[in-house]
Amino acid sequence: MESFKNFLTVAFPQYLSKLPLPDDFQGFLTLSKEEWSSLLPLFVFVFTLSYLLSMSCTSSAKRANNWRDLSNPKIVDKITFKSDEEMLKVCRCWKSGTFPLCDGTHAEHCKSGADNAGPALIFHEKK
Ligand code: FES
Repeated sequence: MESFKNFLTVAFPQYLSKLPLPDDFQGFLTLSKEEWSSLLPLFVFVFTLSYLLSMSCTSSAKRANNWRDLSNPKIVDKITFKSDEEMLKVCRCWKSGTFPLCDGTHAEHCKSGADNAGPALIFHEKK
């Protein structure tokens, strides 16, 4: 831990102070090849860190469920309906305010282009 602290408080600031960082943006245009090559590791580090952070932020967007009972490893809903009801609309976009039943919220969600999920329509087979 002490070496990490030393890196952050001493070595890294020393490294940064030796970099040929210009005072303004136009100063980058006047840097020599050697100066650019000394800046390259810093730019690669910053780019890699930014990429990894953006990937970790977007990975949660791949989940269908981003809000409901997230600590539960599996959510199961039991839906019963009367035999005289003709159709049940079950939400598949996970945006419904009446989840697990569809309340039509999917229409606005799909309009944004984020998804194309609509409800599952379940019909009671009449005998
Ligand atoms: S609100 Fe989710 S499918 Fe309709």
